[in-house]
Amino acid sequence: MDEILISVRAIAVNPFERLIQSVGDIITPWMTYPAIVGSDVAGEVIAVGPNITRFRVGDRVAGFAAGEEKGRRSAEGAFQEQVILTEKMTAPLPDNLSFEAGSVLPLGLTTAAAGLFQSDFLAMRHPSIQPVSVGQTLVVWGGATSVGCNAIQLAVAAGYDVIATSSLQNAPYLMSLGARAVYDRHSPSTPSAIIEALRGRDVCGALAIGIGSTKACIDILGATKGQRFIALATPPVSLDAVPAGRGRWKTLIPVLMRMVAGNIFLTLRARRRGVKTKFIWGGAPLHNDIGPMIYREFLPGALAGGQYKPSPEPEVVGHGLEVIPVALERQRKGVSARKLVVTLGPR
Ligand SMILES: NC(=O)c1ccc[n+]([C@@H]2O[C@H](COP(=O)([O-])OP(=O)(O)OC[C@H]3O[C@@H](n4cnc5c(N)ncnc54)[C@H](OP(=O)(O)O)[C@@H]3O)[C@@H](O)[C@H]2O)c1
Repeated sequence: MDEILISVRAIAVNPFERLIQSVGDIITPWMTYPAIVGSDVAGEVIAVGPNITRFRVGDRVAGFAAGEEKGRRSAEGAFQEQVILTEKMTAPLPDNLSFEAGSVLPLGLTTAAAGLFQSDFLAMRHPSIQPVSVGQTLVVWGGATSVGCNAIQLAVAAGYDVIATSSLQNAPYLMSLGARAVYDRHSPSTPSAIIEALRGRDVCGALAIGIGSTKACIDILGATKGQRFIALATPPVSLDAVPAGRGRWKTLIPVLMRMVAGNIFLTLRARRRGVKTKFIWGGAPLHNDIGPMIYREFLPGALAGGQYKPSPEPEVVGHGLEVIPVALERQRKGVSARKLVVTLGPR
């Protein structure tokens, strides 16, 4: 009823899609074979449900493919030629934006919005194409990630100042997205430099992205004035080294033990400094008012007016579904301020 069918023209890949292959039975136990993973698509509308008035056949769109969410179906997974999208998680793509650019938006945007705007997270003021200053500062640790680039832009559009971290070569890019200042995420002195920069300022909290980000954000918020809440995007230990298939428990058990130990360490550190933390589920805006607020109310005007840039920049790995494993492998090796994309359909 409230869905559209698109012919997919570009798919972006995310770290989570690799993890579903190796530890899907733990992180998405509701997904059973045959399953189609993937969250990020852009394409052309080829059919609309009876309740749809916002889209027509032929429209160019980008949307959050919900196939990995509990209770959804394979027809909603991104890694296929035609995908069903929910209207409230889809935005029109203006003519000046390519499908490749559109495909980098959904999961990074949705995850950032969940952390910044949900009432049980940072509960920040909502974004607008004419932001009014709130007089508060958000810390985004890991600003060059896909989640981070979106968080910077959303927070700026909501009227907040942003202090971010990244590798220094990405600082100019993050400033171009609206960050007020960018610090080197590799430097051990960065937390104290940020604490110094925030002296006398009101902080609305932090978004912690990347391994090591939570500890740094706890130390910063524990020493600054304002809301002591961190929205967490990343667990304390990487699951990247866990292989898929037989024999994985040999690697997985020590990783899970480090995960538990890491969580206990961070919980105690946060408690001692009066800081609250909560882990984001990127698909949550599908089930609350944040998804429609972003995809219906904010994004269409912000993309059309150029106030919001799909970021990080897309890098096309190749054409055709068979290239997706290549893109996922490239993703595993690491990207810097880039989103890997596979194109489909007529060239
Ligand atoms: N909770 C959720 O629902 C959810 C949803 C989506 C993503 N995530 C998680 O969010 C994280 C980022 O995902 P993504 O897709 O946005 O990433 P991505 O775009 O693939 O991230 C690439 C960037 O990560 C940065 N980076 C690498 N290691 C880092 C670290 N230890 N600390 C801070 N930054 C680091 C690098 O920045 P520099 O080049 O500047 O060094 C690089 O530019 C991942 O851990 C992912 O699993 C969680």
